[in-house]
Amino acid sequence: MAHFLPAYCNLNPATSLKPHVERVNYSSAYFPSVPLRPSRLSSKDSIFSKKGNTPRCNIFCAATLSQEAQSLSNSSQVPSDGSKPKRVMVIGGDGYCGWATALHLSNKNYEVAIVDSLVRRLFDHQLGIDTLTPIASIHDRIERWKSLTGKSIKLYIGDICDFEFLSETLKSFEPDSVVHFGEQRSAPYSMIDRSRAVFTQQNNVIGTLNVLFAIKEFAEECHLVKLGTMGEYGTPNIDIEEGYITITHNGRTDTLPYPKQASSFYHLSKVHDSNNIAFACKAWGIRATDLNQGVVYGVRTDETEMHEELCNRFDYDGIFGTALNRFCVQAAVGHPLTVYGKGGQTRGYLDIRDTVQCVELAIANPAKPGEFRVFNQFTEQFSVNDLAHLVTKAGEKLGLEVRTVSVPNPRVEAEEHYYNAKHTKLVELGLQPHLLSDSLLDSLLNFAIQFKDRVDQKQIMPNVSWKKIGVKTRTVVS
Ligand SMILES: NC(=O)c1ccc[n+]([C@@H]2O[C@H](COP(=O)([O-])OP(=O)(O)OC[C@H]3O[C@@H](n4cnc5c(N)ncnc54)[C@H](O)[C@@H]3O)[C@@H](O)[C@H]2O)c1
Repeated sequence: MAHFLPAYCNLNPATSLKPHVERVNYSSAYFPSVPLRPSRLSSKDSIFSKKGNTPRCNIFCAATLSQEAQSLSNSSQVPSDGSKPKRVMVIGGDGYCGWATALHLSNKNYEVAIVDSLVRRLFDHQLGIDTLTPIASIHDRIERWKSLTGKSIKLYIGDICDFEFLSETLKSFEPDSVVHFGEQRSAPYSMIDRSRAVFTQQNNVIGTLNVLFAIKEFAEECHLVKLGTMGEYGTPNIDIEEGYITITHNGRTDTLPYPKQASSFYHLSKVHDSNNIAFACKAWGIRATDLNQGVVYGVRTDETEMHEELCNRFDYDGIFGTALNRFCVQAAVGHPLTVYGKGGQTRGYLDIRDTVQCVELAIANPAKPGEFRVFNQFTEQFSVNDLAHLVTKAGEKLGLEVRTVSVPNPRVEAEEHYYNAKHTKLVELGLQPHLLSDSLLDSLLNFAIQFKDRVDQKQIMPNVSWKKIGVKTRTVVS
């Protein structure tokens, strides 16, 4: 069971003012050995060393607690009414949604700490994939942010499955809210092979359980804002409610958790998380908001636009790329848009600028003690065919010739179905959506065109099959 107890990161942030570096040695059970594709590691990618073809998976654990970061009275972070800034811990703050959110909250005068194991960057190295946009190291990102705005973001590098590490970060930072993005978030990744399925569920379920125990033990007033997914609900033939449904059965009526029909080991990990959080709220009086997020698109937010070193990641590959981002890159490089099966799969979508807004709204309006609140976090519904059509039209305007092909669906899912999901609670709290307009599509496409020389076309096609998943560890890149 070594993988249940990842190597302890000997971190004592409370007493350390200088950057503190320790080695965390992840067990091979955590990261199956897959041959590395060479060439994509830059000198900055110091998180693991190359020896032969197999990563040794030594991750450096650094708590960057500079003098400046310790200075909580930094004038730019004190709200204008003179009250103490609220502290938000962003777990997974080096990832796509987490980085944009950490910057947004810091800009809004929250005091922010990022907790991240950097495992997402390791997945890229292991699978030989890369973000379309060049992204700076987390250390350079945070330094750049500080130099541009004067605002400090604390950094705790470590794995939340390591309870001692997580406890230390909570005790040291004393957050008012924890925003938890820190999970393995790709359905195809969880369906590559047995070891990735096991990793996904261990990482996500145990990480979240640790967060719950840490809040209970060290920060019981803290509001947990947890990123769930609309995929937890599946595609039922009735309207999807926000978390709960009132049912009359045999003459009796009750309000019950909305049924969950997840369709990958990743989505199932989120269902398990939701159940564990609901139970912890009931049993221990923890306050939590589960944000069942739709598919996120876009790359720019006000903050990431400030400097190229703040640029966010943009995944387009068959494993981590989400539909609209992937279609834009395909259109930019002249690759046909790959619609899986009939293309009638309909889901909720939102702009990354709305992700950061929704999280801010959830934090500013916390759940009550003992309350397990569920918000459906998306702004519009599209089928895959709708998206292909929109990208084709936008591409034509830019002089691109865009074709669409139907490829065999690697997933097990309905390709034509009813879908109508409620999403009013965040709007009631004040969400002002950025809807997918022609101008946004133009700018997304232009962005993809700008970086098209970085596109590796071998990464585009789906190569993980829900039905063919096996026990043997797989390398997905040919
Ligand atoms: N991106 C989307 O379209 C989307 C849609 C719905 C829900 N979500 C949810 O939002 C969250 C963030 O998604 P994302 O796209 O930003 O993912 P991401 O992979 O870009 O970011 C996740 C971050 O969490 C970190 N992490 C993972 N496991 C960790 C652990 N055990 N300890 C510490 N750090 C850990 C990773 O290193 C990474 O930086 C996820 O929970 C995901 O399920 C995302």
